[in-house]
Amino acid sequence: MTLLKTKVLRFESLPSTNTELARLASEGAEEGLSIVADEQTAGRGRLQRAWSSPKGAGLYFSILLRPRIPQDHWPLITFAAALGVADALSEAAGVETDIKWPNDLLSGERKICGILAEGIETPAGRAVIVGIGINLTNDAFPADLTGVATSVAEESGNAAERESILAALLRGLSRWYSLLNEHGGAGKIVAAWSNRSSYANGKHISVKNGEEVWQGITRGIESDGALRLWMNGEIKLVRAGDVYSVRSN
Ligand code: BTN
Repeated sequence: MTLLKTKVLRFESLPSTNTELARLASEGAEEGLSIVADEQTAGRGRLQRAWSSPKGAGLYFSILLRPRIPQDHWPLITFAAALGVADALSEAAGVETDIKWPNDLLSGERKICGILAEGIETPAGRAVIVGIGINLTNDAFPADLTGVATSVAEESGNAAERESILAALLRGLSRWYSLLNEHGGAGKIVAAWSNRSSYANGKHISVKNGEEVWQGITRGIESDGALRLWMNGEIKLVRAGDVYSVRSN
């Protein structure tokens, strides 16, 4: 069984924990090396968006993985990470979450955490940096996102304990990533993820991918993490894009 050994480096301020960890990975850093910063001055989100990262308002975290699983299962790394975050928020803060494909964590239908996984080439081989941003307080996001974003403090009604959440996150990531590496682990990750996601099956959604918009009903997850969308009488496999819940009437 692959056990993920983690080691955490802490910084007051960084442009982006993902960027700094990619630099260390290219210098030969080992799997499990993790970075936490109190603030990010150029935090990055999915689809080239900025990730607002004011001091002390969020958990800004990245971990380096050097996966040995087949490459077509690599999208499941973010599924394992989302499961790790879901466990950590439940265990350390009593906050229950729903996972929105591909890897946003929602609480009460508002986003509480985003995950950005980036594949990189290093002299020691292809690696993945998994960046995780958890909103600890509502100062983590701009006021105009109040309707679509939330925080651990708001959802739990208590001050968010960053250190307990970080400790639980490291345990959760270790547990789910180890499972992904086991024989038959990919199927177990997809099953566990699907159990924790109201988006996996029977959800009326629209998907925006660049200029394209698709609307349909979700019909499960492929073994490589693609979302199956029932649309115009056939299944479309969705591999990228932003997903929105749509009222079914
Ligand atoms: C998303 O768009 O939902 C993903 C957001 C990921 C943000 C985290 S914060 C820590 C890490 N460093 C970054 O620059 N981004 C990720």
